[in-house]
This record gives sequence, structure tokens and C-alpha cells, in this order.
Amino acid sequence: MVAAARPNPDTRQPLDLTSAAFHAHKYDWYRWMLEEAPVCPARISVLKVNLVARYEDCRSILSDARFVRSRARARGKGGASPFPFPLPGSVMALASSMIVEDDPAHRRLRNLVNKAFTARAVSRLSDRVEDLSHELIDGLDTSGPVDLLEAYARPIPARVICEMMGVEKSDADELHHGMRVLTEGLSGLGIVRTLFWDLRRTTRFVRTLIEKKRADPGDDMLSSLIAAEEAGDRLNEDELLAMVFLLIVAGFETTMHLVGNGAQVLIEHEDQRARLVAEPELWGLAVDELVRYRGPVHATKPVYATEDVELHGRTIARGTPTFPMLGAANMDPRAFERPETFYVGRSPNHHLGFGFGDHFCLGRQLALMEARIALKNLFERRPALRLAVDPSELELARLPGWHRYKALPVLVA
Ligand code: HEM
Repeated sequence: MVAAARPNPDTRQPLDLTSAAFHAHKYDWYRWMLEEAPVCPARISVLKVNLVARYEDCRSILSDARFVRSRARARGKGGASPFPFPLPGSVMALASSMIVEDDPAHRRLRNLVNKAFTARAVSRLSDRVEDLSHELIDGLDTSGPVDLLEAYARPIPARVICEMMGVEKSDADELHHGMRVLTEGLSGLGIVRTLFWDLRRTTRFVRTLIEKKRADPGDDMLSSLIAAEEAGDRLNEDELLAMVFLLIVAGFETTMHLVGNGAQVLIEHEDQRARLVAEPELWGLAVDELVRYRGPVHATKPVYATEDVELHGRTIARGTPTFPMLGAANMDPRAFERPETFYVGRSPNHHLGFGFGDHFCLGRQLALMEARIALKNLFERRPALRLAVDPSELELARLPGWHRYKALPVLVA
């Protein structure tokens, strides 16, 4: 990396998290932050933020009562918008999910859904994931390049979360399209269009889904959330909407990109693939190591200090959005031996790829199960899988907080 391109916390040039320079050399920037800028000023578009890079600092911020999710609370303004910019009313409902709430509201909402994600509930879904994965591998085009993200990595978690929620297949496609437009649009340049047009459209669509399910309930998560809403005291209608939205967004784009990033890392590491062939029982550890080494989520939602906090000689000012950078923390040599080496037998592996503290990922077990089955079947049945382009041509999406490719062209035969 060119030294002059490095961010300097003492200048007025905060690191631009949407810049091509950052995404092209992300791991160089992380190394630099870990050593020289553990609290690093940055920006997302016009929004000024702080990044916290080191493993122990991320863990302590994510469990420190002085840091909260609600910006309004951090600034002592009860009732004000939790967001740092004005949002249309219809959109606020969608965006106000438990991931941006603090306890007790957060805990009340999380308790409504956590039983669907226990180890037992997840293990009951594994046969379905096996079937889906084999069906998709059978259908992979062997005559030329295919985008592994679209042809394989997306449909597995997308169908699983829709089935868990009880969303009909005919509605699932529109929903996935809507979700994709949103995740890409909300961090991109078209944010205004996304906020005032796409998000409204998706809100209307999710409301219609809820109405359909209300009329015809089943044995699924959406029906039980609607029952909780109808009981009156546990969930209001906006919370219901936000929960559906959160579970669907969190439930498939993340896992999809873990499978994509994972396939890319495994293609690159022939020795580690060979080890998995010899010791298939290592697949569980291997997937956790993939989450550490190239997980799809590199930052939590912003947290806000309720008072000025001093850290490594810098002040995190009250109310400023602060991002624990999980992607950097997972490369911290203070926490991991040889962090830049990917090896499938790494154990213990207390990485932060699923977050930490009260908002620790609810879907971790589901994601690990889906990714393990998807990657194991893929490499066992298509051992010659390789990239269809030079690795330098793969393009990362410039979405702050994510590590994901725009496409993953591979040759399957
Ligand atoms: C590889 C896949 C996944 C990764 C890397 C991942 C990562 C994360 C991370 C880092 C957080 C913490 C965010 C924060 O503190 O702001 C989180 C929270 C969450 N995740 Fe996941 N996730 C994955 C898959 C899933 C799946 C499959 C679901 C299931 C629907 C899910 C549901 C959630 C929910 C609901 C939260 C919010 C929990 C709360 O606020 O209490 N995630 N996830």
C-alpha cells in the first residue's frame, strides 16, 4: 500500500469507508489501524464516525454500559429519532429493529424469536439444507462460467429463512429482490432514492405479507410473531414489521456471502482443502475459521457513547457513531496466533465474526450449519471447482461493514 494513501488521525482526512482505496487494500488498512490507529476517525459519505480496531477494545465496547445503540439515548433526548439523519415515517418503522434497540426493549423483542434459533431447532432444518444443496449442485451449469453467488450461495439461506418465516415461494422472489436493492442502496450513492422509494415499496410489501399471514396462519415464525402482536402487550405493529425485515436481511445475505467468501478462500488454499478431504470432521472448525478469516460482516451496527470516553489517547465524543471493526479485530495478533494464516484446524477460535455481547448473532448456529453443508457438499462433489477469472479481477462491493464480492465467477466442471 502507498504510504501517502494511509489515513492519518491527526489530519482532517478521515478514512473514507466507501472508497475504492479502502476496499482494494482492506487488510492493509486493518493492519495499520491495529498497530497505529486503534481508534481511527472515518466517514461514511458525510457521516463522521470512529472505528475501533483491536480485539479487546471491540469486546469491551460491546459490553460497556456507557455505549448504547440508540443515538437519542446517548444524547439524553428521549423520544427523538435513533438515527443520525431524518428518515421518512414509513421507513423508520422498518429500520427500528431490535439490533438498534437497547435493553429492556431489545431483550423483550429478542425473547420473542430466540427459540426458533436454538441448536435443536436448527438441527431439525439440516436435512432440508442437505436436499437443497444437492439439488442446486445437480443443476450447476458445467459448460461455462457460473456466478456461484447467484447459482448456489444465495438460494440456500434465502429459501431456508423464507420457509422458517412461512413466506410463500411466489412472494419470496419479490422479497429477495427488495432486500437486495435495500442493502446495496442504503450504503451506496443512490441512498436518497433507496430511502424514499425502494424502502417504501418494501415496507408496503412486508405489510401485505403480514396481512396474508394474519388471514391464514401456519406453523411458522411469522404466524407466532403475529400472535404475539395480536396479544397486544408484547409486540406492536411497527416492531413486527421491523422484526420480519431484520430476520430476512440478517438471515440470508450474511450466510450467502459466507458461502461465497468461503468458496473463494478454499479455492485459494489447496493444502487446506486436502486436509478437509483427509479429515472431514474438521469442516465445523473450518467454517468458523472462514468466519474469522474472511467473514462477511466486518462491523456491528454503530454504538454511541453516553459520555466522552478516552481510549488510546483519543476521545470518543458522546453521541458520535462508533463502529467496532470485527474484521480488523479478527486479525489482531494480540488475540490470534498468526492471524493472517488460514488454517482449518484452528482451535480455540474466539473470533468476533458474529459480534459480541447483548446483540451477539441470533442466527450463528443456523449460519454455521448452512455454510458447512453448502461448502462441504460443493467441494466433495465438485473437487475441481476453480475461479473463472484471475483473483485480481474479483470485485468487492463497496459497502461499509461488509466483506462481499459483487459476483464470484467459477468453473464447475
Ligand atoms: C455468516 C452468517 C452471519 C454472520 C457473519 C452474522 C453476523 C452477525 C453480527 C456480527 C451480528 C451483531 C451485529 C451488531 O452487534 O450490531 C449479528 C446479529 C444478528 N444476527 Fe447474524 N450473522 C449471520 C447470520 C445470521 C442468520 C442466518 C440469522 C438468522 C435469521 C441472523 C440473525 C441475526 C439477528 C436477528 C441479529 C441481531 C441480534 C440482536 O440485536 O440481538 N444472523 N449477526
